[in-house]
Amino acid sequence: MIRPILRFGEQTLHRPAALVDEVTPDLHVLIDDMIQTMYAAPGIGLAATQVGVPMRIFVADVSAGRSNADLITFINPELVEAAGAQYEEEGCLSVPGFNATVTRPTRAVVRGLDRDGREQVIEGTDLLARCFQHELDHLDGRLFVDRLRGLRKTLIVRKIKKLSRSGKW
Ligand code: NI
Repeated sequence: MIRPILRFGEQTLHRPAALVDEVTPDLHVLIDDMIQTMYAAPGIGLAATQVGVPMRIFVADVSAGRSNADLITFINPELVEAAGAQYEEEGCLSVPGFNATVTRPTRAVVRGLDRDGREQVIEGTDLLARCFQHELDHLDGRLFVDRLRGLRKTLIVRKIKKLSRSGKW
């Protein structure tokens, strides 16, 4: 089932998510919904907080569904290594219509559980490294907008507030 994606300003997005205690069948329903929602959007990553569930889970597929092998599910992920720096435009399904250059490491190693509760460690480089860190930020209640400084951040937040006031957000 495709679930509605929360937008910047909705509380669950701005709060840290809780660790998952146990991998249950209900969790598989949530994960399958998240995958379906990500592909439908379309996007290359989606965190549980974006569908209003404050649990530490994200899904990612930098091929956007072109290659099954690229689909990744992480439960209770944590960043174990990060290196380098890349400067690319980044967007977010929860901040539609806005993009900004965000500095991210070029390499990121993430450890956590897969959808069956087995431990997995995945190394991401370039786009996948960016995606991992973007999704990990979501689980800490942080959006890419929060990574911006000064005028760029002010402008985006001001535009979103204006859209909200006119009921277009
Ligand atoms: Ni996002």
